[in-house]
Amino acid sequence: MGKSTSVVRFAAVGDLHVTKDSAGSLRSFFVQACEHADALLLCGDLTDYGTAEEAHVLAEELGAVSVPVVAVLGNHDYESGLQDTVRQTLMHAGVRVLDGEVCEIEGVGIAGAKGFAGGFGRGSLGAWGEPAIKQFVHEALQEAMKLESALAKLRTPRRIALLHYAPITGTVEGEPMDIFPFLGSSRLEEPLLRYPVDAVFHGHAHRGSVEGKTINGVPVYNVAKPLLLRKYPERPPFRVVELPR
Ligand SMILES: [Fe+2]
Ligand SMILES: [Fe+2]
Repeated sequence: MGKSTSVVRFAAVGDLHVTKDSAGSLRSFFVQACEHADALLLCGDLTDYGTAEEAHVLAEELGAVSVPVVAVLGNHDYESGLQDTVRQTLMHAGVRVLDGEVCEIEGVGIAGAKGFAGGFGRGSLGAWGEPAIKQFVHEALQEAMKLESALAKLRTPRRIALLHYAPITGTVEGEPMDIFPFLGSSRLEEPLLRYPVDAVFHGHAHRGSVEGKTINGVPVYNVAKPLLLRKYPERPPFRVVELPR
C-alpha cells in the first residue's frame, strides 16, 4: 500500500510478549503492519520477562520494519529490573521509546507514557493510610503527570496518546471486574481531557474490549495482541487508524 496524500496511517499493537523463542516469528507480521501504515505504534509488554535476551530478539525482528516505530514499555518489560536495558536495546534498533516524551511522525504528535494501575472513577485508590498505599498512588500520579507534560509539549494539529495501561473502563470491559483496578487508572484520563488528542492506544487488558471513548469523546483503542487475535481471527493482529494530514 503506497503513501496517501490525504491521511497518515498508524498500525498499533501491544502485548507482543516476546520470549527468547520468538526469533523469526514476528518478521512477517511486522512487514505486513508496515505495508498498511506510515508508522508502527507499540503499546508495551513488548517482552515477556523484560530480559536483555528478549529485548535483543525483538530488536532483531524489528529489523524487518521499514517505517518509524514508536513504543512505550509495559509492566512485563520491568519484571527483571532491566527496563533501562530493554529501552536502550530498542532505541539502538531505531525505536523511539517514550516515557513522558513526545515525537512527531508526518505532522502527527505522539505523547507516550506507560501509565499505571489504581482503578477507575469513584473506585480509584486514594493516597490515604499506609505509606505503601501512598507510594502506589504516587506512582499512578507520576505516570499521569508524565503523560500530561508530554501532551502539553505537542503543538501539532493532530495528536496521539500512547499508553500501556488503560485510561478508561470502556476498553477493559470483558475482563473480570475484580481485576479492573489493576488494568488502568482514571488518573490517565484527566490529562486527555485537558489536552484532547485524536486517538489513544493502549494494551495490557488482554481480555478487554477493542474500542471505547473518553468522557470528551476521544476514541480509545485497546490493541493488546491477544485481544485482537481473538476478536478478529481473520485479520493480522494490529489496528490501523488513519488521521487526516
Ligand atoms: Fe500484556
Ligand atoms: Fe501489561
